Amino acid sequence: MSATAFAERYGPRALVLGGSEGIGAAFADGLAAGGLDLTLVARRTAPLEAQADRLRAAHGVNVDVAAVDLAAPDIEHTAVTLMERHEYGLLVYNAGAAHGAGLFTERALAGELALVRLNCIATVAFVHQALVRMRQRRKGGVILVSSMAGLAGSGFLATYAAAKSFEIVLAEGLHWEHADMNIDVMCAIAAMTDTPAMRNSGMKFDAIPGLTAMDSEEVAEGALAHLGHGPVWCAAGQTALDQARTEDRTRLIEAVSGMGAALFGLDPTQPCE
Ligand SMILES: NC(=O)c1ccc[n+]([C@@H]2O[C@H](COP(=O)([O-])OP(=O)(O)OC[C@H]3O[C@@H](n4cnc5c(N)ncnc54)[C@H](OP(=O)(O)O)[C@@H]3O)[C@@H](O)[C@H]2O)c1
Repeated sequence: MSATAFAERYGPRALVLGGSEGIGAAFADGLAAGGLDLTLVARRTAPLEAQADRLRAAHGVNVDVAAVDLAAPDIEHTAVTLMERHEYGLLVYNAGAAHGAGLFTERALAGELALVRLNCIATVAFVHQALVRMRQRRKGGVILVSSMAGLAGSGFLATYAAAKSFEIVLAEGLHWEHADMNIDVMCAIAAMTDTPAMRNSGMKFDAIPGLTAMDSEEVAEGALAHLGHGPVWCAAGQTALDQARTEDRTRLIEAVSGMGAALFGLDPTQPCE
């Protein structure tokens, strides 16, 4: 799709949740380069302002920001306020990484609940607000950023994997509901990507031989190119997605649990007290 056609279909403005760093910042770059105005959301103001300044200078687009914790308990009210701020043709729900791993019962409950709020509750709140408005206009797009971890249960990342699975399944259903309405809903399944969040989380990018971290730009560009071409796009490729979906479930869970442990430097053996 040409930049003009993309801007007509998904403009005039995109809301990027988690748009100050990493994959979300790469989405914002790609969209601004295509001429879309932007609203960027994250918790910390300084990186948000820096990213907004950069995009204004580089692309001459209008960018505003909102410092919001998407895992906050009253997020549905914030979703309404933000949605009323502008007319958004595209919603990118990107924030949602795990920031660490560990056995479920050894992790603080507050952190596990925050993961569910960030990836499930707030996702539903924003996507609902966005789609109600897009249906009235009969145009628009929604991208939910999920993870390969969402393709199976995973020890050490149990809540994260379950929450990322929610996004994939939600996008599939909403894609079906909007297929004839000129509204594209898609899940972008990211693979291991070198982002500031993952570096700060202590992810060991070289832990698994043959597995190389992707760049945020590769993920965002691939996802934006796939928008309008189906409910799910996988950064690791369709073959990797098909393999995960047809693999023996027990073997897959065993394998991804071991990978999760390796990536975060944990003992991969199952606990048996
Ligand atoms: N990186 C990977 O290896 C990888 C692999 C598979 C899937 N993914 C998925 O890709 C997406 C992006 O991942 P990422 O590695 O770039 O890290 P991320 O922490 O999910 O995203 C970073 C961006 O989101 C913001 N953010 C994080 N938590 C937030 C919250 N509670 N409220 C508001 N904003 C928040 C960050 O700014 P603030 O910190 O200032 O809030 C920053 O702008 C996630 O959905 C993740 O699950 C990543």
